Amino acid sequence: MPNFKTNSIAMPNFPVKFGDSEFLYQAVYQNEESLIRVKQKKEDFFIQIRKKDGGYLVKADKISRPPQVVFVQQALRDFRDLCGCKVEYSNIQPQKIRQKVKFGALKDINFFANDFLCEQEIWIEVGFGSGRHLLHQAKKHKDIQFIGLEIHKPSLEQVAKLCELQSVENVYLLDYDARIFLEFLKSNSVGKIFIHFPVPWDKKPHRRVISSEFIGESLRVLKVQGQLELRTDSQKYFDYSLEEFLKLNILNLHINKNRDLDISSKYEDRWRKQNKNIFDLTMVSEEISEVNQKIGIIKFEKIYDFANLQENFKNIVKNEEDYFLHIENIYEINENEGLLKISFGASEKNERVYVQFLKDKVSYFPNNILATKANQKAHNLLIDWLEEINR
Ligand SMILES: C[S@@+](CC[C@H](N)C(=O)[O-])C[C@H]1O[C@@H](n2cnc3c(N)ncnc32)[C@H](O)[C@@H]1O
Repeated sequence: MPNFKTNSIAMPNFPVKFGDSEFLYQAVYQNEESLIRVKQKKEDFFIQIRKKDGGYLVKADKISRPPQVVFVQQALRDFRDLCGCKVEYSNIQPQKIRQKVKFGALKDINFFANDFLCEQEIWIEVGFGSGRHLLHQAKKHKDIQFIGLEIHKPSLEQVAKLCELQSVENVYLLDYDARIFLEFLKSNSVGKIFIHFPVPWDKKPHRRVISSEFIGESLRVLKVQGQLELRTDSQKYFDYSLEEFLKLNILNLHINKNRDLDISSKYEDRWRKQNKNIFDLTMVSEEISEVNQKIGIIKFEKIYDFANLQENFKNIVKNEEDYFLHIENIYEINENEGLLKISFGASEKNERVYVQFLKDKVSYFPNNILATKANQKAHNLLIDWLEEINR
């Protein structure tokens, strides 16, 4: 993660443009940490400043960091030079001249909520990692629109770059939890869902991709004869998944052991070298599913008084049966503007995001949030809390 350490920062007046970056504001949390909002071309994110060993560590903010690290590196360089920081330690030097152009395959959730009108059949890969399998399939099936879902930003960047270099045009890549994203897709629109070598999460089973809920959503989005293909080296994960699939009353399920595919992923190579068994579970959809309502993004309808919020702020966790809301921190931009850091959604698949309270607008940052059932309910809890404070 790009960062630098300095003993002093001569904070400028915001907003200010410097180099390739526009620094919009500073939001401060208890004199310990601050977030600087940076815009660069279409990228909009925070860099974070934390007190450390008598100085400051300046780095990308994890929640809002864009997948392409080059934007963060440039923002840190611009900020360092703008604030006259004497650098004690840095991993952003020397400056490499890299083109700062957003890769076309990288999309955000707004694109899917507003502009995604896909008439072609869709194939999904969940957790594509190095992208070997995803790119192989995309090149082989040019009439299919592929959507690669990944939560590991360096993989997103690397595969987006490969799409550019190899002129692969039928792939969209999205930094989003696949378990949430599936709810967004139209019923009967997907031909294949690949889940190859998912993290088994033996110690944190709530983080597993496969669950009966995920299988249900997969069946909804799959076309008739559409397939979900799970491939794993972990017999424990295979057994767990089989049990989850068998909870269904009617099921067309196939099992393979040590089947060869056209392409072997990076993880597969690793397990094969260790002579591990590879298990496949393939579910075939046999029924047309009910058409679902289009899921949009959640918007705030009102402006809230930030001063009031700050006065009444408490770290709050509200747990309901199938969703939760955790209001973690509050950051002040000025008396009337600021941010909340929150996590919310379904307990096993949550979103971490900021709520930005500006004079004329309240919004989620860095991206909008999909109005899935759990997100909408958690958002309503947040609204109730905001209304209560402002009463
Ligand atoms: C063990 S790697 C396998 C990568 C690749 N499929 C392969 O076979 O080489 C699992 C990948 O799934 C991603 N992942 C884990 N949970 C996810 C989720 N809920 N949504 C999207 N991606 C996820 C991880 O970031 C990781 O890159």
